[in-house]
Amino acid sequence: MKLNVAVLAGDGIGPEIVEQALKVTNAICARFGHELITKTGLVGAVAIDETGNPYPDETHQLCMDSDAVLFGAIGHPRFDNDPSAKVRPEQGLLAMRKKLGLYANIRPTITFPSLLDMSPLRRDRIEGADFVAIRELTGGIYFGQPQGRSEDGNTAYDTSIYTRQEIERILKLAFEFAMQRRKKLTIVDKANVLATSRLWRTISQEMAPKYPEVEVEYMFVDNAAMQIIQWPKRFDVMVTENMFGDILTDEASVISGSLGLLPSASMGIHTSVFEPIHGSYPQAAGKNIANPCATILSAAMMFEYAFKLQDEASLITEAVNASIEAKAVTEDLAGEGGKALGTDEVGDWIVEYIRKK
Ligand code: IPM
Ligand code: MN
Repeated sequence: MKLNVAVLAGDGIGPEIVEQALKVTNAICARFGHELITKTGLVGAVAIDETGNPYPDETHQLCMDSDAVLFGAIGHPRFDNDPSAKVRPEQGLLAMRKKLGLYANIRPTITFPSLLDMSPLRRDRIEGADFVAIRELTGGIYFGQPQGRSEDGNTAYDTSIYTRQEIERILKLAFEFAMQRRKKLTIVDKANVLATSRLWRTISQEMAPKYPEVEVEYMFVDNAAMQIIQWPKRFDVMVTENMFGDILTDEASVISGSLGLLPSASMGIHTSVFEPIHGSYPQAAGKNIANPCATILSAAMMFEYAFKLQDEASLITEAVNASIEAKAVTEDLAGEGGKALGTDEVGDWIVEYIRKK
């Protein structure tokens, strides 16, 4: 099969981790006889520096013309510390999500047997935890207008808006996911306070009878934040709005043992994007210490969701598991006194595993 992949490495550790994911993708293509064609595009702070735009039209066109997008990370401290910056790297990611219509962000939470004791959470609570968070990605407070500041600069406002159409399409996807899994759907909201949450509830109550096999439960987000780390095994599929999903999935990464392990897929109307859930980790940029596994596992999701190539996806996941089992890991997972490999060495280890398979 011919695989046209747009590669947007972005900022910070983006280029290093994407390089590893590409090595792995190449190894998989060699092993299974696929032809990989990659083209690179600018996004984030690097794109601002070169073009003034964090998501240039050229990059958008490249994404539109590709079968999948492999994305690194964006963000730069020089913008974080400057609240008056007019253009910010994150706007590039948000513009990409919006323009590609990527309304669904799929974030699986998985545990790795050899890492159970790396988590600050007790082994017996997390062993066997396996759930998927589905985060709405193109609506809510991230995009609602008006957003801004009053003229005197002393009042600021954000607006959370959801339309029926936006809620229906993400809930449909969530119900379908639940049907494919253990048939339990937790809808996370703040319906005791927010009007948008109440609309989510109304619509989900209308839709639920169409999926009689799915057990639906509603949970307030504050309660969900607690339950995720207290009883993670109770969840199967969780669906929620944009900002709640952002926060809860970072929290959920504690179950896996490192934020450096969790991949995601963003899907919707146009080309799907595959990216780690972590950020650009600027303190580590260029040091060859960042964990490439979240991006490598995002490449696995690309094979599964964009190309429907399950064996290829499974072999990547198996190789990542094997590397962790063999303690071929970066410093975030090496543990006290353990030997840490470099970002590229972890990539090499995983490539070798695939070659020998
Ligand atoms: C994520 C990130 C982004 C988000 C930032 C970088 C805008 O935290 O993908 O989770 O908030 O969506
Ligand atoms: Mn986030």
